[in-house]
Amino acid sequence: MSDAPDRARAAETAVGIHRRSSDWFAHADLPGFVHRSSLTPIGLTREELLTKPVVGIANSWADYTPCNAGLRRLAEEVRGGVLAGGGIPLEFPTISLGENLMKPTTMLFRNLMSMDIEECIRGYPMDAVVLLGGCDKTTPAQVMGACSVDVPAIVLTTGPCSPPVVDGEELAGGHAVWRFVDRLRAGQADHADMAELESSIMSTVGHCAEMGTASTIASVMEALGLAPLGSTMVPAPDGRRAAWGRRVGQIAASAAAGGGPRPSQILTPASFDNAIALLMSLGGSTNAVLHLLAIAGRARVDLDLDRFDAVGRRVPMLCDLQPSGRHLVSRLNDIGGVPTVLNEIKDHLHLEAMTVTGRRLGEELRTAQRADGDVVRPHDDPIRASGGIAVLRGTLAPDGAVIKVSAASPELLRHSGRAIVFDSVQELAERIDDETLGIEPSDVLVLRNAGPRGGPGIPEWGMLPFPRYLLEQGVRDMVRVSDARMSGTAYGTAVLHASPESAVGGPLALVRTGDVICLDVGARRIDVLVEEAELNRRRARWQEPDPHYTRGWGRLFLEHVEQAHRGCDLDVLKFTGRDAPDPYPLGLFRGWIGGW
Ligand code: FES
Repeated sequence: MSDAPDRARAAETAVGIHRRSSDWFAHADLPGFVHRSSLTPIGLTREELLTKPVVGIANSWADYTPCNAGLRRLAEEVRGGVLAGGGIPLEFPTISLGENLMKPTTMLFRNLMSMDIEECIRGYPMDAVVLLGGCDKTTPAQVMGACSVDVPAIVLTTGPCSPPVVDGEELAGGHAVWRFVDRLRAGQADHADMAELESSIMSTVGHCAEMGTASTIASVMEALGLAPLGSTMVPAPDGRRAAWGRRVGQIAASAAAGGGPRPSQILTPASFDNAIALLMSLGGSTNAVLHLLAIAGRARVDLDLDRFDAVGRRVPMLCDLQPSGRHLVSRLNDIGGVPTVLNEIKDHLHLEAMTVTGRRLGEELRTAQRADGDVVRPHDDPIRASGGIAVLRGTLAPDGAVIKVSAASPELLRHSGRAIVFDSVQELAERIDDETLGIEPSDVLVLRNAGPRGGPGIPEWGMLPFPRYLLEQGVRDMVRVSDARMSGTAYGTAVLHASPESAVGGPLALVRTGDVICLDVGARRIDVLVEEAELNRRRARWQEPDPHYTRGWGRLFLEHVEQAHRGCDLDVLKFTGRDAPDPYPLGLFRGWIGGW
């Protein structure tokens, strides 16, 4: 065994870097013996472990997460690519967050999943990692974890599902369901229609097929530089996704052998600007704001809500994609995918930003297509002159709130109305159809106790339903305000993520039914028109709600979660500037066991 370190050292010298996995495999001592012998049951040889780089494959496949159900097969393609690239693929399962089945909300567990990813990457021998995710929270969680360890990481998403065709129309999952529920409540559809929709709406694996949260986050990964350009919008059942799997495996093997680029070399203020520019141009999900803030916190990049608004004011919205527009993301893939959009807004991008292939964004965009004028409009003929999301502040949200302008009703973007306040989502469900409330179309529906601590986990309750009697009259939008999130597939004039939230005493906790609320998106304001002295009197009487959890993960979450304007990460997971470098787990015990 004495020649083991020599051969490993020779292999490293040949590529000029020190491999992380060598800390496990290249030592002529008891730990090296145990580490190498532990991998013989899966067919790896001592020679391979001494000479080849290791690529971890973090797989969030689960039956409970149908969006990610294609990842088992895709992982096999990635393995093939890693082997072809001269690396050793080692796959590991992680927590999976199935958006529709997991309760109370997957956002309660995004940070937990990020910890799972972080500690697996840190604790196991790997020189690079491929992150296999797709459903809404899985990709952000993986990236947050990978950034915290800072080994080369490549995002490969599951891809959108193939939408069913119903009555000649391609239907996107979430968006179609929201529209159907409005029709059902208005008496324009019945339960037989619902049963038919239920059996067809999610007929293939893959994430939601509109520019909801999953598609938005996947696209944003290309703009950040973490996913290969052109990879994310290829549909999950499409054979070209398997080809992407092999290609990503090869890119990962190359990054593992060469030591980079690492997330810290890719994620910079410039790359976040690029991601925000794309988000604005897509008319993408407001959830991306939370996830980008959280990723930036792990990547040691200063990012705040003002940056989103600043970029959003200058970047035009070009994409006609549901839920803001007409098309599904498969149409975007048909015309070149995300690179087509990036190419059209390239005057707003930092083209020198590094990407996961080791090439700059500008180089990667050289072969990108031009806008087709339908799904993606040219930059000089935009759908909107500014981006799809605006950041609001005011007496109702001093630390900020967001609104998806592109999915709102233009006539409601400047609106004053009487507040109708619901203290909880249960009260909302029980009372929204109560005609004695006398809700009118001009009223502003307010939901509180739906934020990071109040929900808990800032659930997607922000698209508050309307009273049935207003739906029957044809009302399809009203101003709504909450400290909740909204599904990326939802739409309407909804002010979201009001911060600080009501459960910690934010102003939303002080609003009463009958107060006047004023929304002015042009002025970036959301205000409650109540005298400060009166608000102070109400504040003095306000009582903090009882915590939802007294033990376990829920308690840790409640004790450490940050507010929405900071991305809802746990404070203990962000970098403080005083953090020790990546711990070196093997050195802890190698010293006293010694070599031989
Ligand atoms: Fe998984 Fe929409 S439910 S992406």
